[in-house]
Amino acid sequence: MKGIVITGASSGIGRALALEYAQKGVAMGLIGRDPARLEETARACRAKHAQVQTHVVDVTDRAGMENFLMRFDSICPIEVLVANAGVSGGGIGAAARAMFAINIDGVLNTIDPVIPLMMKRGRGQIAMMGSLAGYRGLASAPAYAASKGFVKLYGEGLRGALETHGIQVSVINPGFVKSRITDANDFAMPFFMTAEKAARIIVQGLQKNRARISFPWPMAFGSWLLAALPVCLSDFIVRKLPKKS
Ligand SMILES: NC(=O)c1ccc[n+]([C@@H]2O[C@H](COP(=O)([O-])OP(=O)(O)OC[C@H]3O[C@@H](n4cnc5c(N)ncnc54)[C@H](OP(=O)(O)O)[C@@H]3O)[C@@H](O)[C@H]2O)c1
Repeated sequence: MKGIVITGASSGIGRALALEYAQKGVAMGLIGRDPARLEETARACRAKHAQVQTHVVDVTDRAGMENFLMRFDSICPIEVLVANAGVSGGGIGAAARAMFAINIDGVLNTIDPVIPLMMKRGRGQIAMMGSLAGYRGLASAPAYAASKGFVKLYGEGLRGALETHGIQVSVINPGFVKSRITDANDFAMPFFMTAEKAARIIVQGLQKNRARISFPWPMAFGSWLLAALPVCLSDFIVRKLPKKS
């Protein structure tokens, strides 16, 4: 049995990833907060002959995450771990801290308990969900961009630090993908794609052990360029981007 754990599997990209991975011979650990939506994903994965365990837990609950991950791993060693759960928004101050708790601490609560287990086995794959929004500070969403910037830099660093232990680390940086996050956006989203298409791109990238899985490419190039421009120029562009509600 191939053990795969995905956080944020109750919706959007996480749900589509679960379905993309679901097949005979796969044991899945699916994590989310909404029991009904999580169970719906599990049902769809079981229909594709995967074995599925669901766990309703908030990724900010460090002990709760560790308990589930250790228990799952003792039954079926985790080969692929996808730290996908996250929230978006435009807040600062307390709202920014709440977002960091999910998008940063939540990722650490997902990967920290599993890294030593994978190190002991000398193999494993970790995928961390960043965003093209994490390439540069964004006035439209300072906390979201910062949280995804953390994921990008930490993931890229971990990749080098863990490769000698046989662990592959990739950072996923999508543009605009249909989900409950983008359902809340009231502005035009270039190169908008379905979660199913995003999941196919992500799984193909992970199978090739890509360091950065950034897509769609025109937006990935634009984000890279924005970060490379002198600040006076990129600030001018960033000020014109629509604000997240
Ligand atoms: N959609 C995009 O355009 C886009 C672009 C770049 C990056 N991303 C990233 O992709 C990831 C998935 O988001 P999505 O777009 O698929 O949005 P989504 O449909 O809102 O899904 C978010 C998932 O994360 C889970 N989640 C959120 N907070 C959680 C918490 N505290 N504890 C446990 N689970 C939690 C949700 O679970 P419940 O619903 O059960 O609460 C849900 O399953 C996020 O990290 C997001 O930042 C999305």
